[in-house]
Amino acid sequence: MGAIRRIGILTGGGDAPGLNAVIRAAVKATVLHHGWEVLGIQNGFDGLLEDDGDAVVPLTFGSVSGLLPRGGTILGTSTRGNPFEYPLPPDPDGTVRTVDASDRLVRRLRALDIDALVVIGGDGTMRIARRLWEMGVRVVGVPKTIDNDLQATDRTFGFHTAVLTAVEAIDRLHTTGESHDRAMILEVMGRNAGWIALHSGLAGGTDVILIPEIPYRLERIAEKMERRRARGSRFATIVVAEGAHPKDGEQSVVEAATPGGLQRLGGAGHRFAAELESAYDIETRVTVLGHVQRGGTPNPTDRLLATRFGTTAIDLLAEGRWGNMVALRGTEIEAVPLEDIQGERLIDPSRSQLVATARAIGVSFGE
Ligand code: F6P
Repeated sequence: MGAIRRIGILTGGGDAPGLNAVIRAAVKATVLHHGWEVLGIQNGFDGLLEDDGDAVVPLTFGSVSGLLPRGGTILGTSTRGNPFEYPLPPDPDGTVRTVDASDRLVRRLRALDIDALVVIGGDGTMRIARRLWEMGVRVVGVPKTIDNDLQATDRTFGFHTAVLTAVEAIDRLHTTGESHDRAMILEVMGRNAGWIALHSGLAGGTDVILIPEIPYRLERIAEKMERRRARGSRFATIVVAEGAHPKDGEQSVVEAATPGGLQRLGGAGHRFAAELESAYDIETRVTVLGHVQRGGTPNPTDRLLATRFGTTAIDLLAEGRWGNMVALRGTEIEAVPLEDIQGERLIDPSRSQLVATARAIGVSFGE
């Protein structure tokens, strides 16, 4: 393999506050220390496969100026998704078939003289990065998801910002809930992992935290409400992860999975509110935080993590350590082989100190 002269950067999957901070740090470190050219690939892997000629932009010191506090990603992100199962335009009857477009993608990288790739994304994007690496593409991964559910890294950027937004919402729901004697329910993101719900619920002082890892029993929560009532307080704040579900029920889905995509969750908060109202005499109100928790400026903690990830990704390329993902382990940024990243990082209720802390102060998980 020849020396690196030009690298590509792309962002895949749902956005997270801090993506632009990674791009900025990677471009600055590259220009200052290596002199390689940097191409920003727009719309994730789609930008390489939808060959409309303008999906690739040069990134310079000037083009990344002012990016640190900016939410989202200036490069856009993949909407069609996985190059190994790339969806074709729908058949007349609406059927969507997929093809393996990875060879085309590798040819496109060669045509653009891209010698190495920095891929910023979540679980799905890292799986794609691994397969590209196995095909001989020089690639390093940077982990991203507000859900904080990526294996092999202790933290992903965007998570702290999402938690901050959720805590601010809980604080506001608290005062109005108290005034009206209502149960105020906040639905937050978290498909199979309840990290946002757990952290924001504990930091926001909610009475109940419902997470996917602990299927809830309504009667347990009603008992908790009764205990509160006996102490003279009716109102309650409750945080519900979108993937939370009753012990004998499924996750609440609003849209089935698309080929190569995920099903869309939604409705967990409203479902729980209806269940609670029918089991217990209380008025409820539901707030779905939705994409408010994913948009906007990254907080300082996420800016720092994103910047450290961006510079380390470039170090790895310079050292020839492709096939790795940068990761936070304790307080250090390390390299983890892409092949070691498997599955989601879920909360283990029997080992989590945060779950234990919440239980210690009487928070109910509905267990
Ligand atoms: O990034 C993951 C996530 O935040 C999930 O928690 C949520 O289900 C999903 O994104 C929603 O993404 P979108 O609406 O962009 O498909």
